[in-house]
Amino acid sequence: MASPRGEFSSRFGFIMAAAGSAVGLGNIWGFPTQAASNGGAAFLLVYLFLAFSLAYPVLMAELIIGRHAHANAVGALRLVSPNPVLRRVGAATGVTGLIVASFILSFYAIVAGWMLAYCLAALTDLVGLTAASLWLTEFSLGRNLAFMLLFMALTVGIISEGVQQGIERWSSRLMPLLLVSLVLLVIYVLTLEGAMEGLQVYLLPDFERALAPGLIVKALGAAFFSLSLGVGTMLIYGSYISDEENLPLLGGLVTLVDICIAVLAGFLVLPAMYVALHSGVEIFTASGALISEDTLIFTVLPRLFDSMGLVGVVVSLAFFFLMTIAALTSSISMLEAPVAYTIEEHGLERKPAALMIGLVIAMISTAILLNFEALFGLVIAVTTRYGQPLLGFMFCLYAGWVWHRDTLLQELRKGNAGAEHGLFWKIWPSYVRFVCPCIIVLIFAQSLLS
Ligand code: TRP
Repeated sequence: MASPRGEFSSRFGFIMAAAGSAVGLGNIWGFPTQAASNGGAAFLLVYLFLAFSLAYPVLMAELIIGRHAHANAVGALRLVSPNPVLRRVGAATGVTGLIVASFILSFYAIVAGWMLAYCLAALTDLVGLTAASLWLTEFSLGRNLAFMLLFMALTVGIISEGVQQGIERWSSRLMPLLLVSLVLLVIYVLTLEGAMEGLQVYLLPDFERALAPGLIVKALGAAFFSLSLGVGTMLIYGSYISDEENLPLLGGLVTLVDICIAVLAGFLVLPAMYVALHSGVEIFTASGALISEDTLIFTVLPRLFDSMGLVGVVVSLAFFFLMTIAALTSSISMLEAPVAYTIEEHGLERKPAALMIGLVIAMISTAILLNFEALFGLVIAVTTRYGQPLLGFMFCLYAGWVWHRDTLLQELRKGNAGAEHGLFWKIWPSYVRFVCPCIIVLIFAQSLLS
């Protein structure tokens, strides 16, 4: 029989853990660079709109189902289904989610490994080990493998410790650290020459670009990725919330923190690019567009840091440390989804479950690294562009159509006795029923056609 379930010990702990899951490379890396090349503040507005109108309702669907069932995605979707066919489809959706989560972790760990390597490179720079720094910052199979494995080991280590001792403890430590280092970096970069130009690019809206059809799909994908939706990670975190908590409020806070950090990261990344331009680093491609995301982080910024001398080394250390923390609080949530499933449905102990699944995912990452050109982009596209929105669609159907409305209301009333009179109950149920599924399908169809 499985061991008793964990639970977050406090509201703060949950918010840190869920915000930790949400805030990751997607926010600090993906969002600012996409905003930069897609209409600046206009992209920001589209993104904000999608985050609150589409991603938040889906997040709520996951949190509510999770807390009601106090179980992993597979068990939870089974529980809310009234008949055998729906139970089976629900379980299949849950399992698909776990598989998608594992594949997302397999590429995420590779990228996070690079962050870790760059972080270490700043340290070796500091003590003058030039050859080591070179190895750490050059793309090679050996380095990629070593740091992917190191990062996976950290993730497995935290997850083996369980909900309170692992996830909650580490998220509550790392998230405040993340916020402080981010704010300090923003302040510092804004004082440098060229920063204001970057700020302008970020904040002046260009609606023509932001409303281009392909872009809305991208922004939706970004919003889903950023809130960790569709694969059962938020559902499992929801299942560890105590029954006394007011769920719509908690979900709203998590969405808010996630968006604020993405916006804040924009104040760092874009000004930094223009500071780099000022010190002679090329930031535009031949066609005049801002250069793409990975080149930005792993070429432009390091060159900028190099040009800053000793200060640059410290800033570089802080920046890649920040990225590593952001990635770690996210990767643990990805691993927790399949781990909780094997514990609850197959009766494994937590430690061996975490180790075994971590190993399988590391093997997938290794396969990706061995066929990098062919697989890396493919895995990202399939999991995030198609997998997540489609699974999000299924969660909406289960929350909106399959699950009985009365039980849903009862669940909401646990943490808020007057829930039926609140705004959330007036809007959300019909919203996840009609609006969210329709919009997801529309955007999806459009992306398939274009
Ligand atoms: N939201 C995280 C980010 O912005 C990534 C993440 C964590 C994630 N858990 C997830 C993405 C589950 C998809 C599914 O980087």
